[in-house]
Amino acid sequence: MFSTLAEMSVASRLAPFGSTVFTEITALARAHGAVDLGQGYPTWEGPDFVKEAAIEAIRHASNQYPPSMGIAELREAIARRWLTDTGMSVDPDTEITVTSGCTEALAATFLGLFEPGDEVILFEPVYDAYPVGCALSGAVPRYVTLHHPGFRLRADELEAAVTSRTRAVLVNTPHNPTGRVFDRAELAAVADLCRRHDLVAITDEVYERMVYDGEHLRLATFPGMWERTLTLSSIGKSFSLTGWKTGWAIGPEHLTAAVRAAHQFLTFTTPNPMQHGAAAALAAPEDYYVELVAGYRRRRDLLTAGLAELGFEVTVPEGAYYVLADHTRFGFADDVTFVHHLIEDVGVAAIPPSAFYPVSDEGRRLVRFAFCKDEATLGEALRRMQRLRS
Ligand SMILES: Cc1ncc(COP(=O)(O)O)c(C=O)c1O
Repeated sequence: MFSTLAEMSVASRLAPFGSTVFTEITALARAHGAVDLGQGYPTWEGPDFVKEAAIEAIRHASNQYPPSMGIAELREAIARRWLTDTGMSVDPDTEITVTSGCTEALAATFLGLFEPGDEVILFEPVYDAYPVGCALSGAVPRYVTLHHPGFRLRADELEAAVTSRTRAVLVNTPHNPTGRVFDRAELAAVADLCRRHDLVAITDEVYERMVYDGEHLRLATFPGMWERTLTLSSIGKSFSLTGWKTGWAIGPEHLTAAVRAAHQFLTFTTPNPMQHGAAAALAAPEDYYVELVAGYRRRRDLLTAGLAELGFEVTVPEGAYYVLADHTRFGFADDVTFVHHLIEDVGVAAIPPSAFYPVSDEGRRLVRFAFCKDEATLGEALRRMQRLRS
């Protein structure tokens, strides 16, 4: 009886995912003293004005349960930001939910919206929380590949993925790990598909501020899309506070109600002081973002130029903070073998992207480097990788 129960459990549905590739690579990197360009967290701290706001909140007794939907100050700050960015008004009481990071917003979305057997279109390379969201909710992922080297979204392949069971499409832009910032034509194709097949759109915009070429476009602002789109994001990346896990979901009342139904019993709410910090973060002047982007652009250019010089074939990322580089020139069988060599013999950690390709084998020729690392760290990694030449 126990084994039957276990087979039906969430644990068994999650078993195929094992531990994340990040956990394994981080442990291996530590064991070998490798410079870590693997996991996507910055080597520097978030801004003081945000940390001070959270400290003030702790000192002044904002330490009890906040409302499940999030404190009013943060929901209002999110609404103001949305108005500035899109020109659209959003109701902080019925259309915004604060969550414990974008990760919880994703889980609440999957659990709140889907029945077992519903199909969700995902793009590969895929961020691991999406197939896990499917496994949690019983939804079935249908993958559309963003093909190397351009990683463009192809409307014909998107259309071919639709069946009578399709309920939603999930778009991550700027995209981890390709660095794509989807352009107007690509997002218009998604919007068109959603309208014609009556699909929900879920967008993961955690890298919304990290755009170096092109423009961050929000699917929710395309004609007819507000009513069917949930926009998910968080402060982790934009404010170099990945450990804060403070995010949100924005969408029309009927979709917000579904997110809140699950969120209420997943975490109920998000730590109160961090919400005060996040509200301060979202009031940051434009200068803050200008500086953030300038720093990231410098680091991107340093890493991509260095990798190209070493012999990698590099697709320069338009956004986010990762580079996918083609390692085939160095003669290794696949990405996992190459990354092991890189960590154990060269002393640099990176991520083997085949973990992000559930369907195609296009990830085997690639390796992902993160450039949310200070310039000294990037420089040291490039110096060590000179060994690849011999
Ligand atoms: C595409 C994407 N979505 C979501 C997350 C997680 O966001 P959060 O830390 O706010 O839960 C990450 C973190 O790496 C990510 O890369």
